[in-house]
Amino acid sequence: MNQFLSMNQPSKLRIGIFGASGYGGSELLRILLFHPQAEVVLATANEHAGKAVSAVHRNLYGLTALHFVSAPEDLNEVENLDCLFLALPHGAAMDVAPRVPERVKVIDLSGDFRLCDMDVFKHHYKSTHTAPELQSGFVYGLTETNREAVKRATRIANPGCFATATLLALAPLVKGDLIANRVIVDAKTGSSGSGAKAAANTHHPQRANSFYAYKPFMHQHVPEIEQELKRVGDWASELVFMTHSLPVPRGIFASCYVETKNELSDEEARRVFQEFYRHDFFVRVVEGSPDINHVKTTNFCDIGFAVRGRSLVVFSALDNLVKGAAGQAIQNMNVMFGFDEKTGLMMAGSNP
Ligand SMILES: NC(=O)c1ccc[n+]([C@@H]2O[C@H](COP(=O)([O-])OP(=O)(O)OC[C@H]3O[C@@H](n4cnc5c(N)ncnc54)[C@H](OP(=O)(O)O)[C@@H]3O)[C@@H](O)[C@H]2O)c1
Repeated sequence: MNQFLSMNQPSKLRIGIFGASGYGGSELLRILLFHPQAEVVLATANEHAGKAVSAVHRNLYGLTALHFVSAPEDLNEVENLDCLFLALPHGAAMDVAPRVPERVKVIDLSGDFRLCDMDVFKHHYKSTHTAPELQSGFVYGLTETNREAVKRATRIANPGCFATATLLALAPLVKGDLIANRVIVDAKTGSSGSGAKAAANTHHPQRANSFYAYKPFMHQHVPEIEQELKRVGDWASELVFMTHSLPVPRGIFASCYVETKNELSDEEARRVFQEFYRHDFFVRVVEGSPDINHVKTTNFCDIGFAVRGRSLVVFSALDNLVKGAAGQAIQNMNVMFGFDEKTGLMMAGSNP
């Protein structure tokens, strides 16, 4: 029998994934099946319930005997789990979370519990929150800026992919009080950011040769970026945030244009980032521009920059499904359960 099909290993964390047939769920499975401290015992799906996991995620063929099931109606049935990942469409987690037994730790990949202000939530997600009383129990899971709170958390709101790329680029500058005026973020994403269901904007003939901007000034990640920058330091600048669709399946690339209060040399700018991320394995300060190709399928966020006088451009690149979703969620799980943060996440990208 394949060594990866072994079940019932009581010393490991028992993991459930709601929405395991989607792209975020696919990446959770790809990583967790090889995590030495975790065993996925429940993988739910909607349309794909009943199918073998490897029949839907064919990259996992021969690596797991799991089958998708429908999510249980009575969530007392998940009481024997240690950790439940919610990789569901926006709006679904706020229905599930109130019914999850308290002893089960929850990591939500959606935007349902990221925003503290319910009016801001309503404005950006175009719906009224149905479980606002739970929000304060969720910790925003950008591990690098919120590690101590993540350690104590039982509920995590995992950050958005654009938000992760932008926050990791700007946090060192906000912490150092280096920003003079408004910041312009020009960010691009690959098509898997829209999830696994086929749609006109992800259909290959439409997408393969296209490049376009969308949601100008109104992307739903703007409020979470501003909320978290205020937590990191004295953020009072205007944020101009523009999102674009790239003709690639995975990857986020953000260029963040900043005017600094004082002139910075290349060496001074590098020191700001290196010092801020000195304990953070998954943020790499690179020479020149990062490249989405180098972080693909990994939990790294690569950060580069260019400086001229008081003009500073910070570049960040990550994989939207790994550091932007499932990888960061597992990084948070590691921190919550006291494991080495890198456990199960030591993945190099490929060259080319
Ligand atoms: N994609 C990204 O790059 C990314 C990055 C960061 C965060 N996120 C967030 O992560 C979450 C999952 O995203 P995704 O890209 O994995 O989406 P996805 O590919 O569309 O997957 C959604 C999953 O939820 C299930 N599902 C759909 N409707 C459902 C319903 N009404 N009730 C219960 N289950 C339902 C689907 O099951 P069936 O397939 O069986 O229908 C599937 O397993 C979203 O909230 C998204 O915003 C995504």
